[in-house]
Formats: sequence, structure tokens, C-alpha cells
Amino acid sequence: MSYKQTIVWNVDNIEKERSLDPGIKEAALWIKRGEVVAFPTETVYGLGADATNDEAVEKIFKAKGRPGDNPLIVHIANQEQLKDLASSVPPLARKLAEHFWPGPLTLILPKKQEVSNKVTASLDTVAVRMPNHDVARALIKEAGVPVAAPSANQSGRPSPTKAEHVKHDLFGKVAGIVDGGPSGFGLESTVVDFSKETAWILRPGGITKEQLEEVLGKDRIGFENGADQLDNNAEMVSPKAPGMKYRHYAPDSPLILLRETKAIKRRMETEQKAGKKVAVLAVEEHRSDLEPAADIFIALGSCVKLEGVAAHLYDNLRQADQSDADIILCETFSLEGVGLAIMNRLEKASAEG
Ligand code: TXA
Ligand code: MG
Repeated sequence: MSYKQTIVWNVDNIEKERSLDPGIKEAALWIKRGEVVAFPTETVYGLGADATNDEAVEKIFKAKGRPGDNPLIVHIANQEQLKDLASSVPPLARKLAEHFWPGPLTLILPKKQEVSNKVTASLDTVAVRMPNHDVARALIKEAGVPVAAPSANQSGRPSPTKAEHVKHDLFGKVAGIVDGGPSGFGLESTVVDFSKETAWILRPGGITKEQLEEVLGKDRIGFENGADQLDNNAEMVSPKAPGMKYRHYAPDSPLILLRETKAIKRRMETEQKAGKKVAVLAVEEHRSDLEPAADIFIALGSCVKLEGVAAHLYDNLRQADQSDADIILCETFSLEGVGLAIMNRLEKASAEG
């Protein structure tokens, strides 16, 4: 399906009464009609369609070029809508929902039979989240249906954190884009699986492991760091989150992660000697050390403010990718707090990770 024109609704300047905004109303109408529309959330932009309409859901996969065996997150506007999706909600999952919704947390729950196999890729679970973004919730409420939405990027590209990124990837491929300004957190939601005995983090994100432990207790939630490194291992037949087996968030030029500025400098020299143009991604604190020799330097924010690094990470990766660099060298971060999600995304984007 292609569209001569993709409608862009600018709702960025509307402070109050967002549900009454004509742009949101129109976008909701397109969703009701079975079309796909991109919208802002507090994590990244999503590409939404009526989760109860198989043809509409199909259009999401087509527009993104997403493999059909990678299930979608269903977005809801209030707790009430959860009843139509999950056949049961374990007490610990309910506790997290009460604590962190609306917010950047996705719960994997046993699905109700009525939930479409197109949405869940025929799994017996469904991923649900209530976004903490006025525009997103107003849109879902106005559409009157749960909204299936992956990140609104072309499959394999960094997730979009600005309407401009969505336009770049999907203009002409989707009915419309609700432009609500930059998304907040900048990386995707934390995905927690409640379909097994132990609650398990499948993807670190907007809610940190430490925050989850604070609510559930330290030994009540599992995470295997680097587990999804097995993505590229052909022998791994059954990855935990289906999306993990695909290379994600990948810029076109190879991205190499290096821990120390010394190592970055050394690699830069080697690459430049071989005639390569090098882009360096590093924190402000390392600018004076690395910028002079770099062909392109992109500051990732400050190492003492990882929220800022997360918020701009995808935009910075896109910028590095659009530059004429042949190779991108990027420094690494600690795995604490937000660092865990940052490193998870960088490792997935990395050629050598
Ligand atoms: O922040 C976010 O979560 C954003 C915004 C738009 O809400 N959405 C997002 O969706 O990141 P997507 O499709 O890009 O990532 C969803 C991830 C994929 O890795 C997918 O495989 C996994 O969640 N997933 C979805 N349903 C699942 C299920 N039933 N069981 C296990 N993993 C599931
Ligand atoms: Mg995605």
C-alpha cells in the first residue's frame, strides 16, 4: 500500500484539551477506518492500527517491512481495556501496572482468545502497555479500540524519536503522522514477561531494573544480561522475545563499541590510515580528547546524565549514519540504571557486538 500523501497533524503546540484537538480526532478516524497512523509516545514514536482489525494490523507489517513473526505491543488508554486483552493478570504484574502505568513498561500476559494472531504472531501471550503521553492516550481513547503499535521506523533502522524521523522512514507508506514534538525518554519501554514462573525482563527500557526490583523485591525479577546477544547465533532457535532474533536499530555504517578513549583513538588512527572516514560518538567529557582527530564528532550528552544520553541516542545514531563516515566508533556506558537500556541498544546496533 502506498499513499501519494501522508497527512501530518501538528499537535505540538496544543497544551490542554488534547482530546479535542482536530488533528487527533482526524487521526483517530483513520485508525477506526483501518489505516495506520504514527503517533508520539513518551518512549519513541509508534505506528498504530486498530488491534482488532487484522487487515489494519497487516498494514503495519507492510509499511515497516517487519517480519510477520515479530509480535506487536497493544497500547491502551486505561486499565479497563486490559480486560479485553489478557485472560489473567498475575498479582505481581498487576502491582507493576498500578505502579508504573501510564508509563514505559510493557507486560507480557496470557492472551484472551479473541486477541488476533496477527498481533501476537500466534503466541499465546499478548504484550500490553499504557503510554504516559497525552497525545497517545487521547488518540487511543478517541479511536475507541486498543492500538497495536511497534516503533514507527523502517524495520532495522533506529527507532524514531521525532516526527521528522518517521517522515524520513515512512512518508508515503502510512496514512498519517501525528507530530507531537520529540518523544520523552528516547528508548523503548521495558518489556517484562509474566507468562513464566519468574517475571523476566525481555528488553531493558524506560523503567529500570532497579525500579522494578524496588516494587517487586530483588529476587522477584530476572534479567540475563547479553542474552539477546545470541541473536546472531543460528543455533538459537527459540529466542525469548521474538523481536530479539532480528538485528535492530542498526545504522548503515558499521558501529564499533569501545570502552576507553585510548582504544577509540587507536582504532581511529588505524581506520584513517586505511583511508576511512571516522565518526566518533562520545560524551561531552571526552570531547576535547577525541574531537580534534575525528572526522566527525557527535556528542552523546554527559556521562553523569544518562537520561539525556538516552533521549538523543537514536537521533545521534541517525545523524552519524547520514554523515559520510565509513565507520562509527562509540564509547560504552555502565550497566546501571538507564545505562542498561542504552548499552542494550548500542550492542544491537553494533556490528561487532
Ligand atoms: O516503547 C515501546 O515499547 C514502543 C512504543 C511505540 O510503545 N514500541 C516498541 O514496539 O518498541 P516494537 O514492536 O518495536 O518492540 C516490541 C518488542 C519486540 O521485541 C517484540 O518481539 C516484543 O516486544 N513482543 C511483543 N509481543 C510479545 C510477546 N507476546 N511475547 C514476547 N515478546 C513480545
Ligand atoms: Mg522497534
